[in-house]
Amino acid sequence: MKSRKIQAATVFVFIWALFWLGSCTHQPGVYYDNTPKVSNNCSTDTVYFQNDIQPLLNSTCAMTGCHDAITGKESIVLTDYAAVMKTGGINLQNPASSAIYRVLSKSGEDRMPPSPAKAWSSDQSAALLTWISQGALNNACTDTTCDTTNVTFAGSVAPIFQKYCDGCHNSSNPLGGIDLTNSNQLALLDSNGSLLGAIRQKPGYIPMPLGGNKLSNCEIETIAIWIRDTTLSAGSNQQQQTLGRH
Ligand code: HEC
Repeated sequence: MKSRKIQAATVFVFIWALFWLGSCTHQPGVYYDNTPKVSNNCSTDTVYFQNDIQPLLNSTCAMTGCHDAITGKESIVLTDYAAVMKTGGINLQNPASSAIYRVLSKSGEDRMPPSPAKAWSSDQSAALLTWISQGALNNACTDTTCDTTNVTFAGSVAPIFQKYCDGCHNSSNPLGGIDLTNSNQLALLDSNGSLLGAIRQKPGYIPMPLGGNKLSNCEIETIAIWIRDTTLSAGSNQQQQTLGRH
């Protein structure tokens, strides 16, 4: 009698263990530490969730109608670290098989973000993969140095737009009629003050990046210096008519 009970208990434990192990392999990455890890220096070898990944998710995935908390298409919400870890299909054992990474390079309608939104660049996808490979931590860095000695559009400003803005403001998806990859439009936004007004989040302007955190002081300063040092405003008057501010 006794041994039968023990047998039954063993079988039960065995079955339970199978389920438990099964749930581990099918839901990798659901165990995570939400505590933010903030470094005082930004290491070029590290990809930081808060600095590098969340802004990209905000501008390309976590918007209304897609993967914000309200819409949550396919039950995927990408608005913050905990949501990404819970719903992004992160696989720490095999980072390249993480759903959030795989969808970036799928073809046709399966690709995320879906057309007409621009696909993530290879650098952006590589950064996501590195972040997962480095443990998918809730990490951030605060760089106190701000190097503005040699500000150029390609080297300094475009990377900021690519991270925070281009997902909503490119030629195939110019939200609000604004394409930040078009120099004529940049010139217009500069000439009417709305580019700096929006990123400085001044009253009277729609705060940008929409739905995301304000750019760092260094990023805002970089864009301001570039505007000051270029002749962007020249020649923009004839555009004013068609693209004028509402
Ligand atoms: C999630 C999408 C989204 C992101 C990300 C985003 N924008 Fe916008 N932006 C919009 C929309 C939508 C509008 C138009 C809003 C309206 O007209 O009601 C807009 C409007 C603007 C305007 C006009 C503001 C005004 O007051 O007239 C500027 C300038 C702008 N965006 C710049 C940026 C810059 C620079 C970034 C990145 C730092 C950025 N946006 C990121 C969606 C976005």
